[in-house]
Amino acid sequence: MAAEKLPIVDPADTSRRGFCQVLAHPHCYSHLRLQMHHTRRPQQVEDSLWLVFYGLTAGKRRWPLYLWGDTGRGKTFAGLCFKDVLSNCAWTDLDRLCEMLCRRDVDWWRHMGEVDCMIVDEIGGRDEISSVDADAVKKIADLRERYAGGVAVYIGNHAPDRIKELYGVRIHSRLCCGTQYEVTGADRRMA
Ligand SMILES: Nc1ncnc2c1ncn2[C@@H]1O[C@H](COP(=O)(O)OP(=O)(O)OP(=O)(O)O)[C@@H](O)[C@H]1O
Ligand SMILES: [Mg+2]
Repeated sequence: MAAEKLPIVDPADTSRRGFCQVLAHPHCYSHLRLQMHHTRRPQQVEDSLWLVFYGLTAGKRRWPLYLWGDTGRGKTFAGLCFKDVLSNCAWTDLDRLCEMLCRRDVDWWRHMGEVDCMIVDEIGGRDEISSVDADAVKKIADLRERYAGGVAVYIGNHAPDRIKELYGVRIHSRLCCGTQYEVTGADRRMA
């Protein structure tokens, strides 16, 4: 397995918890103009979520972040804004995770353990949780926990308790052991 080729990080070493380098404060818009997607501005994301995010990157809150809420509330949008301000962040969704598990793409999995931050969208997004789905989610969570100080953002529609029902206690423990944040409000697609 790819993870075995990565350096082992001492679990007692918490120095990597604040390892996630932020390029600029989201409100310093001029610094971000060149790298940001032009249709997305970090100021559009609620301040309370940025406060949580900065608490995480400063090592004051526990990783990972489990970001959840009903459809259209802006979870993917917020995740992409996080990616915009991070220096070394990878993005994937559940379908790609499953594809990469089936392909056994060793280089891809190694990279997912090496980036500073990993964002995984669409957790629990399928009608039924297949063994491939569960194995893929467990594998990425283990990689991040063992080799990257747990620095990851998991995004899904389900409340943490429902994650436990869908994926079982072991995956629930991995995804929801850090900081949880519910994105509320209206469905922005229907606005
Ligand atoms: N803070 C925001 N300001 C303006 N537009 C937003 C904001 N957040 C999301 N949107 C827009 O609302 C729509 C839905 O957002 P998004 O895809 O992030 O929702 P979601 O919570 O990930 O939904 P789902 O659970 O269905 O994946 C998108 O078109 C997105 O660009
Ligand atoms: Mg989404």
